[in-house]
Amino acid sequence: MSEALEKGNRVRQLIWTFDILKNTENVKRRTDMKVLIVGSGGREHAIAASVAKSSRVDKIYCAPGNAGIGQIAECVPIGAMEFDKLVAFAKENQIDLTIIGMDDPLVGGVVDAFEAEGLRVFGPNKAAAILEGSKAFSKDLMKKYNIPTAAYETFDDPEKALEYLKTAKMPIVLKADGLALGKGVLICNTLEEAEAGVKEIMMDKKFGSAGNHMVIEEFMTGREVSVLSFVDGKTIKIMSSAQDHKRAKDGDQGLNTGGMGTFSPSPFYTKEVDEFCKKYVFQATVDAMAAEGRTFKGIIFFGLMLTEDGPKVLEYNARFGDPEAQVVLPRMKNDVIDVMEACIDGTLDQIDLQFEDNAAVCVVLASDGYPVSYEKGFEIKGLENFEDKDGYYCFHAGSKLNEEGKIVTNGGRVLGVTAKGADLKEARANAYAATEWIDFANKYMRHDIGKAIDEA
Ligand code: AMP
Ligand code: GLY
Repeated sequence: MSEALEKGNRVRQLIWTFDILKNTENVKRRTDMKVLIVGSGGREHAIAASVAKSSRVDKIYCAPGNAGIGQIAECVPIGAMEFDKLVAFAKENQIDLTIIGMDDPLVGGVVDAFEAEGLRVFGPNKAAAILEGSKAFSKDLMKKYNIPTAAYETFDDPEKALEYLKTAKMPIVLKADGLALGKGVLICNTLEEAEAGVKEIMMDKKFGSAGNHMVIEEFMTGREVSVLSFVDGKTIKIMSSAQDHKRAKDGDQGLNTGGMGTFSPSPFYTKEVDEFCKKYVFQATVDAMAAEGRTFKGIIFFGLMLTEDGPKVLEYNARFGDPEAQVVLPRMKNDVIDVMEACIDGTLDQIDLQFEDNAAVCVVLASDGYPVSYEKGFEIKGLENFEDKDGYYCFHAGSKLNEEGKIVTNGGRVLGVTAKGADLKEARANAYAATEWIDFANKYMRHDIGKAIDEA
């Protein structure tokens, strides 16, 4: 190579390096970001509130959002499953980062649709979201990589499932394979119930095509803990633990719901449990997904049961929990955009994830009759009581602005009233006090959210 050519190359190399550095600096320093959040529940409101706190964000959009989210973001009338419209909106409005809150679009491949257009998006792609989308996949993964979980069998033929039940120990747990709004799990105490359950799931298709395959698994007992984490494909950072209350009525009676309230941290998530999960569950799951060619970037939600034989994985979700997000995100000290970008860029190892040394409790205010049938359209009064109150949040799950400009109920779960406190008991007292600030017709809540704290 001639000397002149070599010099030219060196100069080009320098310019190139400078450009990269400049761009990296630009990315780091950006404080004018436009963010789009996809979803419409309390979880997305909690995400939006965290994004609004970020020093890096100038404008927030939410598709489709709700009345509460509309107070901090511009809601756009695009459904979470309208991938083409979401992508077109992100392009037209030069969105710098899209955050997917919900499971359905993730499992359906919304991240792939954004990435195909070169758009930055937070969440797992379709290949990775199967961790939540198929219970049979996640159980097989855990078996293959020795991640502790309940013993199980999978079936795609109802006759074989019925045959298997004859020798199985009761109670037993039946799970429809696909997404079923958290309702595709049946706990059966007798053989008759279990047989009826197999028929409901696989033959009557009560949960639709989610029931083409099913998992039958051992019934476990113990306390449940939810652990959310950020994942960048290789590195996993654990958030503060939480506990949900899935049943509709006090004393864990009634039907399963999306979640009636949460507290964080869970006093039952001890140092020993944490050490065990760090050794056998968290990194093992991330590594297993990578080894399967399904590199996971986004949120992994570990639903754990603390059994006598140690912690076991009940389920994985590929997104924030709802209402877990409402108690975990308000306690996070980091700028959420920094953390999400690190997940996308594979630099999560450089993030020091930190949570406040306090507690939070969320009590869901629902429409009486949820999760079966309930009325909507009642005016929600008292929302202004939350304005400028530090440590109190009223996350909207099912609300909308009516024609008269009033905020009205628009779902089974209406609001997530959340309060922080120095400890769990204080947070619980604060949250229940704040539930009194709100009024709407048919307001319903559980009165024992966080009761377990007293047994810790
Ligand atoms: P999942 O959607 O898999 O988390 O199941 C919903 C709920 O069903 C869990 O939160 C548990 O309360 C219960 N559950 C699921 N699997 C089991 C199991 N193997 N043993 C006992 N309870 C279970
Ligand atoms: N709260 C449980 C869930 O989000 O699946």
